[in-house]
Amino acid sequence: MSVRYTDHIRRLPSTVPFVGPETTERQRGRTFRARIGANESVFGPSPKVIAAMTDALADIWKYADPESFDLKNALAENLGVTPANIMIGEGIDGLLGTAIRLIVEPGVKVVTSLGAYPTFNFHVNASGGELIQVPFRNDHEDLDGLLDAAHRNDASILYVSNPDNPMGTCWPGSEIERLIDSLPSGTTLFLDEAYVEFAPEGTAPRMNTDNPNVIRFRTFSKAHGMAGARIGYAIGHDEVITSFNKVRNHFGINCTGQIGAAAAIRDQEWVAHVRACVEQGRERLYAIAAGNGLQAIPSATNFVTIDCGRDGVYARAVLEALGDRDVFVRMPFAEPGNRCIRVGVGTDDDLDIFEEEFPGALKAALAAAGD
Ligand SMILES: Cc1ncc(COP(=O)(O)O)c(C=O)c1O
Repeated sequence: MSVRYTDHIRRLPSTVPFVGPETTERQRGRTFRARIGANESVFGPSPKVIAAMTDALADIWKYADPESFDLKNALAENLGVTPANIMIGEGIDGLLGTAIRLIVEPGVKVVTSLGAYPTFNFHVNASGGELIQVPFRNDHEDLDGLLDAAHRNDASILYVSNPDNPMGTCWPGSEIERLIDSLPSGTTLFLDEAYVEFAPEGTAPRMNTDNPNVIRFRTFSKAHGMAGARIGYAIGHDEVITSFNKVRNHFGINCTGQIGAAAAIRDQEWVAHVRACVEQGRERLYAIAAGNGLQAIPSATNFVTIDCGRDGVYARAVLEALGDRDVFVRMPFAEPGNRCIRVGVGTDDDLDIFEEEFPGALKAALAAAGD
């Protein structure tokens, strides 16, 4: 007896985009003291969100409203678009999967940055698409290089994350608008704005839902502190947004999560508070890096990428030495970013632990390198 996998699935390796920190903790038999590696928001959701979700919990027996009417209206008001321009999904991760299924089939070409967010690649691979990967330049996504690759390959999707993960850098919105104006006619820009709330004013391009070739992706996982609720949204042309209904999981949204998300978008004071905490934490991480003779890359996100000053093998040794000291961080996986480690803005306690353990981890990595 055997399972008749499709040819394409049979050829795919069984990979997961990220190993969760819980998996690592189980393997180690020990929990982390500082969980600052998964780009979560340690500041959590607003008290108003917690109250709304707590109130809603007894109704968890109901399937969630598959139209997400209240949440879409709250978002539309906040963004200055109509509810028809918004699709709710299981985080950006879920929405990327849905949108890719609409466009990618075996052989379709897709352009992204080498070392960019791997869940995008994971979904493209699942649909049999061909990934064309353009290296980062000066720790930024190389917009001209990406555009050039999209033109040369007649790509169906161009994925850009602004601000980006894993380097934490960003382009001004005017540059993204220039990119949009120069797209090949058959290329749809997937603009991942997971971290946009932490970025300087003007990082988001103007909201324009008239262009069917731009889909923007945002989330409640970062600034709103709701990663576990799994709620994200796509913004785009109403016809493109409607087409999500062809393949999406209509009852895939967490009922309590979407009630919490509507409360979150209405509590911009909390977002401002989190932004201020993140700005403070970034400064502290820059100072910790400098105190250890290292340079941090200026960040527009809730994490700071620290250049360890050597190659990827050395940065991995630093990361592992931090893990040995119960500090969970991650690192970029492609050159040249893999000379760095990526450290999330934690609570004061998290950052105290990181500050205390970082010098020892660097020393251990140097010793492992034979220096
Ligand atoms: C660039 C980027 N996009 C999307 C996500 C995932 O967002 P969500 O939790 O909404 O699936 C992340 C999470 O780390 C990210 O870094």
